[in-house]
Amino acid sequence: MLLYLDNICKSYKISGEKISVLSHLNFSAQRGEIISITGRSGCGKTTLLNIINGLCRPDSGNIFFHDKKVPLWCDISMSSLRNKKIGQIFQTFRLIDNETVLSNVLLPARIKGKVNKEVIEQAHNLLKDTGLWMYKEQKAGLLSGGQKQRVALARALINNPEIILADEPTANLDNDTSKEIFNILINLKQQGRCIIIATHDPYMLKLADKTYKMENGKILKSDVKNTTRNRLRNSHS
Ligand SMILES: Nc1ncnc2c1ncn2[C@@H]1O[C@H](COP(=O)(O)OP(=O)(O)OP(=O)(O)O)[C@@H](O)[C@H]1O
Ligand SMILES: [Mg+2]
Repeated sequence: MLLYLDNICKSYKISGEKISVLSHLNFSAQRGEIISITGRSGCGKTTLLNIINGLCRPDSGNIFFHDKKVPLWCDISMSSLRNKKIGQIFQTFRLIDNETVLSNVLLPARIKGKVNKEVIEQAHNLLKDTGLWMYKEQKAGLLSGGQKQRVALARALINNPEIILADEPTANLDNDTSKEIFNILINLKQQGRCIIIATHDPYMLKLADKTYKMENGKILKSDVKNTTRNRLRNSHS
């Protein structure tokens, strides 16, 4: 098993009150899978992704990566795991606006301490694949929302991560660009990567291998995928 979350609980203090966001949540993901997670705004999708990438520590529960327990309490191990094995596209991009597109894409490799000829070539290929080649020397802050989203995708892939976490990756994109992004994700799946997407986008939900719904702090077995498929089918008939 590539990734397994066992009995995860997470609560936040909101206005002095402890509010449970994730409650005894279980989740698993395999290599070569695209999993979509949907659910109402505020149900905990981003929190779940942040727990997988170690940016947020659960109150209780365990995470297993390649069947080995992840040492959640050890910041060094967590940041190494995050940097080497996980690529993330954040809901709010988190680009460095006054650095170039190329520099943003290379950032995780710089953190890993590995920027050599191959990595720069990889960055160039990612910029070509995401249609950003002509912008490579442009400051990231000057790009459109959709272009920033594509920089975030290229940056997430620079270290060849095994797991790609994508938080609303098509929220700022038109249909055609969404399809292009999804084709890149399909390609990654075929290379054996695992892609976990938090999304409301019906196109993303339709094309995922599995679609889960989050409700009351848990991941529910869901018929969202079928419902979405039917809706899309009806809208085209
Ligand atoms: N760092 C934090 N401190 C306190 N509360 C938080 C924190 N992060 C998230 N929350 C709260 O946890 C709940 C879940 O937030 P989260 O961002 O995970 O939801 P979401 O499902 O991603 O929503 P959306 O679809 O709007 O992106 C919300 O009520 C939010 O206010
Ligand atoms: Mg969110």
